[in-house]
Amino acid sequence: MTKTHENLQATAMRSHLCGDLRPENVGDEVTLCGWVGRRREHGEHLAFLDLRDFSGVVQCVVDNKVDVRSEWVVQVRGKVNLRPVGTANESLPTGKVELVDCQIQVLNNAEPPPFPIDQRGDEVDENVRLKYRYLDIRRERMQKNLRLRAVVNSAIRGSMESQGFTEIETPLLMPSTPEGAREFLVPSRNEPGSFYALPQSPQLWKQLLMVAGIDRYYQIAKCLRDEDLRADRQYEFMQLDAEMSFVDEDDVMSMISTAVVAATKAATGVEPPAIERMRWSDAMNNYGSDKPDLRFEMKLFELTATFSSTSFKAFAGAESIKGICVRAAEFPRQAASGRSKLDALTEKAKKMGAKGLVWIKVGEANVLDSPVAKFFSAEEQSALLSQTHATPGDLILIVADSWSTTCDVLGQLRNDLGRPPVHEGPYRYVWVVDFPLFVGINPTTNKPQPGHHPFCHPHPEDLDRLERDPLSVRALAYDLVLNGWELGSGSIRIHEPELQRRVFRQLGISDSDADTRFGFFLQPFKYGAPPHGGFAFGIDRLVAILAGEENIREVVAFPKTQSGSDPMTNAPTTVNAAQLQELGIRLLPPAAK
Ligand code: AMO
Ligand code: AMP
Repeated sequence: MTKTHENLQATAMRSHLCGDLRPENVGDEVTLCGWVGRRREHGEHLAFLDLRDFSGVVQCVVDNKVDVRSEWVVQVRGKVNLRPVGTANESLPTGKVELVDCQIQVLNNAEPPPFPIDQRGDEVDENVRLKYRYLDIRRERMQKNLRLRAVVNSAIRGSMESQGFTEIETPLLMPSTPEGAREFLVPSRNEPGSFYALPQSPQLWKQLLMVAGIDRYYQIAKCLRDEDLRADRQYEFMQLDAEMSFVDEDDVMSMISTAVVAATKAATGVEPPAIERMRWSDAMNNYGSDKPDLRFEMKLFELTATFSSTSFKAFAGAESIKGICVRAAEFPRQAASGRSKLDALTEKAKKMGAKGLVWIKVGEANVLDSPVAKFFSAEEQSALLSQTHATPGDLILIVADSWSTTCDVLGQLRNDLGRPPVHEGPYRYVWVVDFPLFVGINPTTNKPQPGHHPFCHPHPEDLDRLERDPLSVRALAYDLVLNGWELGSGSIRIHEPELQRRVFRQLGISDSDADTRFGFFLQPFKYGAPPHGGFAFGIDRLVAILAGEENIREVVAFPKTQSGSDPMTNAPTTVNAAQLQELGIRLLPPAAK
């Protein structure tokens, strides 16, 4: 990471930063400002104080009568000395030196903090960390993460600018749109009963900017979605959002690759390898997921034909029953898994919709150990071993079900059993291309559901099947995946108004519905919309992975808890009757839970 503070370090109150002192400074008279960290008594008269600012800590040798306590804010004037032989702390950048002859001026005192600031904080309850987030951010971990985030943002900006993109801000108050997620609504005071929606993304605006001839737009944009929160999801998050005209998929992927490679290099100092591409169908068939983690192998295998005439009832007839297949995942050296672990995997598979899960341990001399092995013929057993390349000590898991259920279940079990922690490199980016335009049928509307959003261009070769066989139509859509996380997605858009209507009709949105709900978006396309495409990736997710954090909360200054609240401000809060009155809102009694 580049240090940007070095030449800016001196102010009216300090001459140096705590973390910058080195043996080269020995003999210098310096003035430092910061917070008091740990204090250790040393002999009868002296004490060691750790003085901390954002750059790090330095040890100060002080008179033990000095009355300063944890987290007091102080100014320390002193002389830099080499630490006595044998007392250097090699794990600390300032560990070879210390400050002596210290004069301390207290700038502010502090109550004892609710948790120690000099630790990572994993042991502190999340609600407590967020209630005192300003203290949590004082820690080294959060300081590093937030500054890493700024480095990433800056590298992205630099890369987009150098590729000819223009930064344009788009509105936060907008009408409700059909992008897929649940929206946050904002009541209008001037038009009681009417609402703005907060943007799920700047999707509509950026497409209008293409109609407007901007050519290449980008924005580091705040997006809001009322979704259930998880490790990789917050209500509010940031996207690098981009759109460009007169491009094909390769153009978009190449420009976005340049930006993420620049960000990765700026953050880690390492240039990731060229980003490979994988078809969506291959990702699903081989990894059971449209966001494969390529840091580990453990591919899935197709065994439908192998068991076509089996006498094992759960697999029998799979081939002849339309849409049912038998698929397996193979886990090297996991045959020692105990019964309770295997039962837990079976339970998980069932929870995800599988009818069951067959486990097979490969023993010495390739003897199969499984409650159901006796139902497999010798030919089936040897075909199973040769197809999965399993050897003694390996574990095989098999599911017979619809293709999509086998993908979901085996893809998840592959991750559960094989996935390294996020901080373990390398950074394996992959572009997943050729997504389907629709993913299954929405059970409520009985209409196809869009794979991404309804503005993705169908693959030109598949256009004639849009009405006849919509689920077989591919989209000109692509996702960027990093170490098993969906980092972002994009597509070439529909720029032909009639084609947009055809797609809306497939989704059950009639022409008149579309005019009422999205007329403002459809109308401009009549005035010469250029062919265009774009992409957006989640900055929170990228930074979390680069910081080695499992939860994006760790790279957001003021995030919400899992249940969507902010323990520091108590948001969301009730508002007073006058505010509701002004907005024309009357509250219903809370629904029974
Ligand atoms: P999409 O909906 O796939 O595409 O979002 C793009 C990326 O934004 C990030 N993201 C989130 N990050 C944190 N919390 C969330 N709740 C959250 N939701 C999404 C993810 C995701 O991959 N307009 C399209 C892009 C386009 O077609 O140009 C869009 O928003 O990293
Ligand atoms: P059952 O015949 O339901 O008693 O199941 C026998 C074994 O096969 C159990 O271990 C089940 O978990 C497993 N099993 C049942 N159905 C399936 C299926 N569709 N795919 C994989 N395993 C299954």
